[in-house]
Parts: sequence; structure tokens; C-alpha cells
Amino acid sequence: MRILSGVKPTGRPHLGNYFGAIQQFVDLQHRGEGYFFVADLHALDEIRDREKLLGLSNGVALDYLAFGLDPKRAVVFRQSDVPEVSELQWILGTVTPFALLQRGHAYKDALAKSENVDFGLFAYPVLMAADILLYLADGVPVGKDQTQHIEFTRDIATKFNQTYCPDFDPHTGLGGVLKLPDGIYLENTAVVPGTDGEKMSKSYGNTIEPFADDKTLKKQVMRIVTDSTPLEAPKNPDTCNVYALLKLFCEPAELAGVREQYLAGGVGYGHFKTLLLDKIHEKFDGMREVRLRLEKDPAALEDILADGARRARETGGELLAAVKRACGVSR
Ligand code: ADP
Ligand code: TRP
Repeated sequence: MRILSGVKPTGRPHLGNYFGAIQQFVDLQHRGEGYFFVADLHALDEIRDREKLLGLSNGVALDYLAFGLDPKRAVVFRQSDVPEVSELQWILGTVTPFALLQRGHAYKDALAKSENVDFGLFAYPVLMAADILLYLADGVPVGKDQTQHIEFTRDIATKFNQTYCPDFDPHTGLGGVLKLPDGIYLENTAVVPGTDGEKMSKSYGNTIEPFADDKTLKKQVMRIVTDSTPLEAPKNPDTCNVYALLKLFCEPAELAGVREQYLAGGVGYGHFKTLLLDKIHEKFDGMREVRLRLEKDPAALEDILADGARRARETGGELLAAVKRACGVSR
């Protein structure tokens, strides 16, 4: 079973990234062959400042390692260190219907907001398909917001296989050069809410960032929106943003106790926020220490990424060669 995923280096990781995606990477690396990369080519569409992009890319690699990816086990690499992915993107683009990309959520959102839409944004799903198909991934752990991208990847792979592989059977998905991947979603953390109750996202400014400094982290937790139920009154845990986040951290027995406190009344939201802040520190402070240590040794990080790129290119090179043979740009 080969597991693959990537994170765009566009900012510090937040609880949504961790619980929705990266935590699964760490678990899954023990159950299969893991490929985890820093999606810096994808980030080019958002970050147009070389120093900033270089810094953020290293940052995601550090986050991966600090959160627990083991580079001896999993292949940890930078997307742009594998030029094969760009070549595959082009070939896939030649079988990708324009109409399919026109249905893309990110593209449609940008159009609706009258933002500038460039080729990179429009073609984003094709590069993502290339990321996944190049390494013959079976499973792709991602948050629910990536469902459409996984479907597009399957559609594009099917189209390529149907066009060039006589033995391909679209019903079973077998007999093609490209393997059809499945998304892997964790139901209870598929959408982690932000401080305002909407999906936690960098673009909504509602994030809680476990690697932020203590002061910032506290501020982020304290700004979680709650209703105006007075301290003495019973509170509804099921509509409370703090409780929704506590669910990610507490064991069932502890959570049941917290639930009782909500229902009984007499405890204010400030108390629950402080509990959440403690939980965040408890879980992430050790990881933050690891990150600080790794950050001080950029050469070691480079070595890890270079080794990852070498391993990724070995796998990707074979697949690309097969694709090129199939479509006639190589003998
Ligand atoms: P953002 O929305 O903050 O820009 P990204 O798009 O960079 O986050 O997401 C990186 C990974 O984290 C993706 O796999 C995505 O599905 C997951 N993810 C992001 N936000 C959440 C969330 N609120 N809940 C669950 N998963 C999330
Ligand atoms: N599009 C993903 C995101 O926004 C990042 C990504 C790029 C990715 N390529 C990928 C995720 C391949 C999984 C597999 O989060």
C-alpha cells in the first residue's frame, strides 16, 4: 500500500492541517510506504517572493519531521526537486478536458471573486494529479476539501489509460499504466472548525497554530467565538466552538466530564478555553522543541530532503518512462 500526500507551503500549520491531514500521514507511515512532499510548485501561485517561499518550504519540511514523519521510513521531499512531475503534468494536460478544469472549486471561486485567474490556478488539479499518479499512490490522506481533486485525478488517469492502454478496464481500474488512487479521510476530523466556527483555514484568518509562540497561541485560543450564555447557566456543548476543538484532544472519559460541566452550568467559557490551551501545549510543546532543534541544523534538513528527492525520482522516473512509452514520446 503506497500512501502519498503533500502540503502547500503557504503559512504556519494550524490545527486543521494537523488533525485533518498531517496526523494521518504520521499514522499511515507505519502501515504502508509513505511519500510526503512539500508542494512548493503549487505554492508559486500564491507566494511570489523567493525568500518567503524558500523559508515556508523549509518550514513545512520541519513541520513534517516535528509532527513525527520519520525520513528513514517515509520518503520526505520537495515537489520541485522531482522534475519528472512537471513533465507528467504536461502529458496529463493533453488528455484533461477543459470542461473538467472549469468545474474546479478553486478556479470557480476565483472567477466568482473576479480575482486574476492564471494558467497555474486553472491547471492546479493537473499538477496535483501528476503528484499522485507519478508515484503510483494507492491512498491519499487529505481533508474533505480535497475530494474534488482526488476525483479529478481518477478521471484524468482513466482518460489516459483509456486512450493509451488497450488492456485497461474502466470498471475494475486495472490494466492501465496509471493507478487510480483513493482519498483517505478521517471522518471525525474531516473538517476542523476555526475560531469563528467556520472551517479552519489560513484564508479565513481563524486559525490556531500549535507552533506559534505562546503569546500568539493564547490569543488565538482566547478569540474563539462563544455565545453570551451567562457563567451560571447550563451551556450547549454541541453548538460550542471550544467544545468542538476539545473533542480533538480529550479521551472519551475526560470529554464526558467536560460535557457534564457544560450541561450543569456554573463554569464559564474562559475555563474551557484555558483547558483547551493546556491541551494544545501538552500535545505540541515536545514537537515544538524538536522543530526548534531541527531548525538550527539546515544542512541536516537539506540532506534529508536530498535523500527523499533521490528516492522519489527513482520511483517517479520509472512511471514517467512507462507513460512516455505508452503515448509515443519515447520508444
Ligand atoms: P488552508 O485551508 O488553511 O489553506 P491547506 O489548503 O493548505 O489549508 O490544507 C492542507 C491540508 O490540510 C489539506 O489536506 C487539507 O484538506 C487539510 N485541512 C486544511 N484545513 C482543514 C480543516 N479545517 N479541517 C480538516 N482538514 C483541513
Ligand atoms: N492541493 C493540496 C492542498 O491544497 C496540496 C497538494 C498538492 C496535495 N499536491 C498534492 C495533496 C497531492 C495530496 C496529494 O492541500
